[in-house]
Amino acid sequence: MSVEELAERPQFAEDDAASAAALRAFAASERPLARFDRPRAATPTRVAVVSDPHVSVDAEGTWKVFHRTQELFRETLADAERRGADAIVVSGDLTKDGEERDIACVRSILDDVGVPVLVVPGNHDVKERRVARFERLFTDGGFPVRLSLGGLDVVGLNSATALGPDGEEAATVSDAQLERLDGMLADSAEAIVVSHHNLPGLAAHVGDDWAPHPPVENADALLDVLSRHDVPLHLSGHVHLLSLVRERGVRGLVSPGLCSFPQSYLLLDVDETGTTVRSRTAATREQVAAAYEASQSHSARSSVISGLNAEQLSNLPLVDERADPTGEIRPIRSD
Ligand SMILES: [Fe+2]
Ligand SMILES: [Fe+2]
Repeated sequence: MSVEELAERPQFAEDDAASAAALRAFAASERPLARFDRPRAATPTRVAVVSDPHVSVDAEGTWKVFHRTQELFRETLADAERRGADAIVVSGDLTKDGEERDIACVRSILDDVGVPVLVVPGNHDVKERRVARFERLFTDGGFPVRLSLGGLDVVGLNSATALGPDGEEAATVSDAQLERLDGMLADSAEAIVVSHHNLPGLAAHVGDDWAPHPPVENADALLDVLSRHDVPLHLSGHVHLLSLVRERGVRGLVSPGLCSFPQSYLLLDVDETGTTVRSRTAATREQVAAAYEASQSHSARSSVISGLNAEQLSNLPLVDERADPTGEIRPIRSD
C-alpha cells in the first residue's frame, strides 16, 4: 500500500501541519517530479543530485537542522548508491560556513562513496576567497569540472567566489570558466551543466510574498554558452526551494535543500526517451516533520520557503513534456 493510500485512511489523518507536510513529501516520492524530452542517453544512466547539505560537526538547530546534517548527508549518499546511482552531483553549500573542520568532514564522507561524485561550491563554502582550498580538495584542476558518463556529460561550474567591487559576494561565473565551458561543450554529446546559483526566471514563478535570492549575475553570458550548445538542462540549489524554470530553451531544475524541509534529493533517470526526475529522502517521517516545524519557527523567510516546498510536492509533476509538448511550467503559487 502506498503512502498516499495510507494517508486516505482516517486513522492516519494528520492533525498537525508538520506531519501533514512530511506525509506530502513521502507521497511525492511515489510519482515523477518531472518528465523532460531531454537530456537523453543511449545507455540508461541514473544521476543523484544532492544540494545544500550544509554539514556542520558542532552546530545545532535553525531551519537547517545543523545537528542532523552530518548523518543526513551520509545517509543520503548511501541511499543514492543503494538505488543504483551511476554518479552523484552535489550542487553547493556543502558546509555551514566553509569552516576547516566542516570541509574536512564533508571530504571524509565523500571519500566513502563508491561512485563518481561531482561537487561545485556554494556561497557558504568559499567565503573569504577560500576557493583554492576547495578546488584542491574537490577537483583535479579547478572549475569547470567534467564527469563523462557514457554519452552524457555533467559539467560543474563555480558561481560562488567572484567578489563584487566592495568585496561583497557576487554570484558570477568567471569569463575564464565560460571560455573553458564553451570548449568542453563543443566536444560533448549531451550535457547537464551545474552551478550553485540559479538561472533567472524564478521570481516570475512565485507570488509577492517571497523574493528568491538573485540568480547567477552574468546569467546572460552563461545562457549564451548553454543555448549555443543546445544544453537541455541546468541544475542548481541555493534557494532551498524545489522549482523549475526555462530560459532560452534551457531547463533550470532547482533542487530542494537537503538539510531543510523536505530533506530530499533528486534522482534523474536519463535514457533514450528523455529524463524522468523523482525526489527521495533518506530521513524518517518524524525527521522530515521536525525539519518542517523548525522552518516554521525559525524565520518568516524559512516558513514561506517550506510552505512553498510543501505546495510544490502536492502538485507534481512540475512538468510532463511527454504529455504536454508545450512544456509549460505552472506558477509555484497560483493565487
Ligand atoms: Fe544553502
Ligand atoms: Fe547558497
